[in-house]
Amino acid sequence: MRLIMLGAPGAGKGTQAANLAKELNIPHISTGDIFRANIKNGTELGKKAKSYMDAGKLVPDELVCDLVADRIAKDDCKEGYILDGFPRTIPQAEALDKAVLALGTKIDYAVNIDVPDEAIITRMGGRRACLNCGATYHVQYNPPKKEGVCDTCGHPLVLRDDDKPETVQTRLNVYHEQTQPLIDYYDKKKILVTVDGTQSMDQVFSDILKAVRA
Ligand code: AP5
Ligand code: MG
Ligand code: ZN
Repeated sequence: MRLIMLGAPGAGKGTQAANLAKELNIPHISTGDIFRANIKNGTELGKKAKSYMDAGKLVPDELVCDLVADRIAKDDCKEGYILDGFPRTIPQAEALDKAVLALGTKIDYAVNIDVPDEAIITRMGGRRACLNCGATYHVQYNPPKKEGVCDTCGHPLVLRDDDKPETVQTRLNVYHEQTQPLIDYYDKKKILVTVDGTQSMDQVFSDILKAVRA
């Protein structure tokens, strides 16, 4: 199964993609996690991406399209994958169409996790992230077993650099301008599924599974 996760920053794409990847036994590919790992490791790509990310802006399409095309061509993606945070612009969606076509495959569903802006702002302050394995927690809604420590890999949890309230607002604006048009794009292709992302994490998860297994 080949899935795309759509939704505003903080809608729960990463949380649900990680659960779906386990359930469906396919890789979870988060472009945000790939960039953060590159920043942490001081790579050229990380250096190029950092200023855009810290400002809450999108990294230029040319830095992300080939990277994803290469990633989905890898052996572990033969049975499918979950794209989290890509595509984010119409040109990225068109580049993805080309890449899946070249592989002789197709995207099965674009899952849109719908959460209004007001709910996003309150969620983001409580998020904690593991920069080692990409796991995401929330101090109130999804706390780790031991405070400040990742359940999965034991690394310390941090507040992401782009989770400051003023940057969250910029990210929301960027989302509405550049990413929201993809909802229409995939609706026209008849592969859009929308779930109510204000429900509990478990309920959102079961709604997504129900929709993609229908
Ligand atoms: P990215 O890492 O993709 O960030 P984002 O899209 O802003 O989304 P987030 O990761 O912030 O939120 P999420 O939807 O994954 O929510 P989460 O599950 O964590 O991108 C970061 C930056 O990288 C971009 O700004 C850009 O600069 C760059 N970038 C990445 N991809 C790019 C691309 N393709 N093109 C160009 N630039 C790119 O959940 C949020 C919080 O809420 C957590 O604390 C979670 O525990 C909690 N939560 C989740 N679900 C629920 C629920 N149902 N109820 C209560 N709390 C919940
Ligand atoms: Mg995420
Ligand atoms: Zn971890």
